[in-house]
Amino acid sequence: LSRERIPAGLKLLPGPQSIPIIGNVMELGLNPHLSLTTMSKRFGNVFKIHIGTRPVVVLSGGETVRQALIKQGDDFAGRPDLFSFQYINNGKSLAFSTDQAGVWRHRRKLAQNALRSFSTLEGQTPEYSCALEEHISKEGLYLVERLRKVTKAEGCFDPFRHIVVSVANVICGMCFGRRYSHDHEELVSLVNLSDEFGQVAGNGNPADFIPFLRFLPSKTMETFVDINRRFNKFVQRIVREHYETYDKNNIRDITDSLIDHCEDRKLDENSNVQVSDEKIVGIVNDLFGAGFDTVSTALSWSVMYLVAYPEIQEKLHQELMEKVGNDRKPCLTDKNNLPLLESFITEMFRHSSFMPFTIPHCTTKDTSLNGYFIPKNTCVFINQWQINHDPDQWKEPSMFNPDRFLSEDGVEINKTEAEKVMVFGLGKRRCIGEYIGRSEVFLFLAILIQRLKFSSLPGEMPDMTPNYGLTMKHSRCMLTVAPRPGFEEFSS
Ligand code: HEM
Repeated sequence: LSRERIPAGLKLLPGPQSIPIIGNVMELGLNPHLSLTTMSKRFGNVFKIHIGTRPVVVLSGGETVRQALIKQGDDFAGRPDLFSFQYINNGKSLAFSTDQAGVWRHRRKLAQNALRSFSTLEGQTPEYSCALEEHISKEGLYLVERLRKVTKAEGCFDPFRHIVVSVANVICGMCFGRRYSHDHEELVSLVNLSDEFGQVAGNGNPADFIPFLRFLPSKTMETFVDINRRFNKFVQRIVREHYETYDKNNIRDITDSLIDHCEDRKLDENSNVQVSDEKIVGIVNDLFGAGFDTVSTALSWSVMYLVAYPEIQEKLHQELMEKVGNDRKPCLTDKNNLPLLESFITEMFRHSSFMPFTIPHCTTKDTSLNGYFIPKNTCVFINQWQINHDPDQWKEPSMFNPDRFLSEDGVEINKTEAEKVMVFGLGKRRCIGEYIGRSEVFLFLAILIQRLKFSSLPGEMPDMTPNYGLTMKHSRCMLTVAPRPGFEEFSS
C-alpha cells in the first residue's frame, strides 16, 4: 500500500499508527466494535488498521456501507482466508469459505431455493399457512409449557438453554425433517456451546491474523475446534442416514432436496459439475448452524429486554390481547397488525446489535471507496454496531426506546427509520435466512408474550453487558415466568 502504488486521483487510507508484528491489536481490546467505532470518529468511515501485519479496512456509516456492499457489491463480495474458517464445515462452508465467486453464487442460489421451498411448503394441517409457521408455532407452544414446568419444578430457568433447543428444532424440522427432545443430550450440549464458537469466529480474533498465536495453548481455540468437529459429525451422521433412505419420489426435507440436486446433475450431460456433492450437501451444515445461533440469540436478548422493561412487556401483552385475544394462537399474518411488537423487535436488533460486524468481507479486485484506494484481497470489516448507534442518525442511541420506530400516531411502523437498522448485512452477501429469522423472532415472541409474564428473580437484575463475538450474548442468568390469565392450565 505504498504511496507509489496508489492510482492517480486516489488517496492513501487513513488509520492509526501500528506497532511492528502485532499491529493495532492492543487498541482493538476486548470490544472491537466499540474501539473501532471510536476510531471511526477520528479517521472517518473508511480507514485501515493492522491486525498483526495484515491490513484490514474498517467501514462505518450507513451510506458508505451501502455504497460498498450494494453499488460496488461485486468488489466487496469475497471472504478472507482466515485461520479459524478452515475448521467451520471442514473449510467448505458457504458463509465462511473463500469459494470462487461462481461456486459461491451457485451454492448460495441452491441454499436460497431450498429455504424458500421448505418454508413455504404447505403445513401438515390447514390450521397453518405454511410449514414454517407450523414449525414455529408448535415449538413456541412447547417452549411455553417447558418454561412453566421448569419454573414450577425449580423456581427459575436459564432462558438461552431452552430457547436454543426450540429454535434449533425449527431449522432441524426444515433441514432434517425431525425434532429433538429438550433432554436430547447430544443436541442440547451442541447448541449450548455456541458462545465459544462466536468468540473465535468474531471479527478481529488475533489468532486469525498473527500466525505465532496459533501455537500458544488456548482453551477457547481448543473448544472451537472441538465444537466444529462435533457439529460436523452430528450433521454428517444425519446426511448419511438421508442417503441410505433417499427416495426420489419422496423428498422429505432440505437434505433430501440437496441430494436430489446432486443426483439430477449426474444424469444431465450438459450440467456444470464443478461443485462437488460434498459442497452441495454440506450446505445443510451452514443452514443448520446459521439458523439456530442467530435466532436464539435474538430471542434471548428479547426476553432480557422484556424483563428489564416490565412496562414495555405489559404494553406488548395488552396489544396482543386487543389484536389477537387469548382464544387463538398468534400467526405470521398478525405481524402487520402488531406495531408495538414490531417496533420492540426492531429496537432489540438496533440496541443490542448482537451481530456487531457482518462476517468479514474481502475485496475481489483493486477498488476504491470515498476516494481511498483499496487493493484486491484486502480484508474488510463492516461495523454494523456503529451504524446502529451513530449519533448523526439516531436520537439518544444508547437508550432502549421502541417508540422511535412508530409513526407519530403510534399505529404503524415508520419503515424509513426501521430500514436504517443493519443486522442482516447488505447486498450480495446479505443474510439468506432473513425472512425465516424475522418470522421466528416475531412468532416465538408473540406466543411467549401472549401466554407468559417474564420476570427476574427478586433483587437480581440480570446483567445485560454483551460478551463480544460473532454473535454477542448476554451472560447466562436465571429468570422466572408466570402464566397470563386464560393460560393457567397446562396444555400438555
Ligand atoms: C449471513 C445475520 C438468521 C443463514 C449472515 C450475515 C449476517 C446475518 C449479518 C453476514 C452478512 C455479510 O457477511 O455481509 C443474521 C441474523 C439472523 C440470521 C441477525 C437472525 C435474526 C439466519 C437464518 C439462516 C441464515 C435463520 C438460515 C436458515 C445465513 C447464511 C449466510 C448468512 C447461509 C451466509 C451468506 C453468504 O455468505 O453468502 N446472516 N442471520 N441466517 N446467514 Fe444469517
